[in-house]
Amino acid sequence: MKNIVILISGRGSNMEAIVRASQAGNWPARIAAVIANRADAAGLAFAAANGIQTAVVPSREFPSREAFDAALQAEIDRYAPDLVVLAGFMRILTESFVRHYEGRMLNIHPSLLPSFKGLHTHQQALDAGVKLHGATVHFVTAELDHGPIVAQAAVSVNDGDTEDTLAARVLAQEHLIYPQAVLDFVEGRLTVSQGRVSRA
Ligand code: GRF
Repeated sequence: MKNIVILISGRGSNMEAIVRASQAGNWPARIAAVIANRADAAGLAFAAANGIQTAVVPSREFPSREAFDAALQAEIDRYAPDLVVLAGFMRILTESFVRHYEGRMLNIHPSLLPSFKGLHTHQQALDAGVKLHGATVHFVTAELDHGPIVAQAAVSVNDGDTEDTLAARVLAQEHLIYPQAVLDFVEGRLTVSQGRVSRA
């Protein structure tokens, strides 16, 4: 049985989608823990109600990024993770933290990377006038919103869309592609070579 640790900062709907998929299917992995960097992360309640261990490493209480990342790493490693899943985890990570989980840490970003890195991706898409937008699951590298792409889903941008309507359309796709990408990883189907991911 492989161990998955999921990191959240807020609502946790992607975490919820992954937990539900792991409960429904015959996964060779379990969600060992859900860890948040804020005690008020709403998703913690869902995880606890589903019998998953939860922990909070409060980023605000650490004097530096390095000190926080070291404490977070120590907490994560208590669960001997095969995979670390960032699910709406709103932190920029230090290079040494990223290196420690190289090849075993995934993120989801709400845009079709490499377009629209950073925050406010739906507004960025509306401002650019693109007709297609979406979400990307990728391995995490030291560069923000960068790294070998595992899966993407596209949605149309419609006349009259607002940031909220577009976000909702993208989020529905996130909830499909992220659990599938996590399952592909734990089933050993993903290989990364020269920055590209292939799926067996
Ligand atoms: C998602 O849109 C995710 O792509 C982005 O932040 C949002 C988190 O939502 N990184 P949730 O906490 O998973 O509901």
